[in-house]
Amino acid sequence: MYLKKDTKDEANYKRLHNRYSSPNEAQPYALVTGGSEGIGKEFALELARSGFNLLLVSRSQEKLDKTKKTILEQSPQIAVETATFDFSNFNPEQVKDLYKNLVIDQSRNLRILLNNVGVLGSKRLLEEDPQMLQNMIVVNIFAQTFMTKYYHLYIKERDSKLPYNLSAEAERKRYGEIHLSSFISERSSELRYIDYEIVKPSLVKTYMTGFKEHWRAVDPYEVPYGVFRALGQQREAYGAFKHICWGTITKYEPHPVRVQRLQYDGRQKN
Ligand SMILES: NC(=O)c1ccc[n+]([C@@H]2O[C@H](COP(=O)([O-])OP(=O)(O)OC[C@H]3O[C@@H](n4cnc5c(N)ncnc54)[C@H](OP(=O)(O)O)[C@@H]3O)[C@@H](O)[C@H]2O)c1
Repeated sequence: MYLKKDTKDEANYKRLHNRYSSPNEAQPYALVTGGSEGIGKEFALELARSGFNLLLVSRSQEKLDKTKKTILEQSPQIAVETATFDFSNFNPEQVKDLYKNLVIDQSRNLRILLNNVGVLGSKRLLEEDPQMLQNMIVVNIFAQTFMTKYYHLYIKERDSKLPYNLSAEAERKRYGEIHLSSFISERSSELRYIDYEIVKPSLVKTYMTGFKEHWRAVDPYEVPYGVFRALGQQREAYGAFKHICWGTITKYEPHPVRVQRLQYDGRQKN
């Protein structure tokens, strides 16, 4: 049996394969939005090391080509496809077409969706540039909503047995879905077949945060390892060890202390 129910104690590459690939199927693909830089790129590198083919989507073909080259130098055995797409300016039909062109028409075995793309302004919310405010709403909310919608449609059309007919084969087949900037909470029956995980890193040194040095900041490569360790075991993950500690402490933070801390953080912005 290629899918074990409990893959908790296995190395990440083995766990990913046990959960998402089958000897009877084509090599699995993972689709990473915002996969050309920062945390998304590090997820892509980790997935490539685990033998997953990759579909990377972001705006700049130049960045995508550079990332593809880096990935293939490290993991020449996998395939990497790239597509340019601007998640700040799209309509749902274009997301549907993205799946059609990248996945369905090519008969690719897409098993993991990583909803990573996100943007963040540097100012206090109401002092932010209106275009940035709009981008934050469209990219952080609409992108993952429609990527998720069409991913689920793809799964249902491809494996029509999954949600209704619990045959032994369908029981074993799983898909993964990972969200980095998530407003989506737990959903219905599909969860039985989808390892659904919300990733909540604290500060990560990337372009988004101006590569800020801070005692709480971690390098982006520290995030995917912990996230994949938790995949299929926990619905929420912090990723880096430092962030697991910080997240656990702040979970039990008294409310007045939390308000003070957030106000202090807000005052640090322009
Ligand atoms: N960094 C942190 O401290 C931190 C903390 C918590 C959560 N997160 C979340 O983690 C995710 C990744 O953040 P990051 O720090 O890795 O960001 P990043 O370094 O700025 O990378 C963003 C990625 O998204 C792509 N992208 C940006 N805008 C896009 C658009 N409109 N359409 C398509 N692609 C776009 C970028 O490539 P192109 O320029 O080529 O488009 C790049 O590949 C985000 O969802 C963020 O909210 C980050």
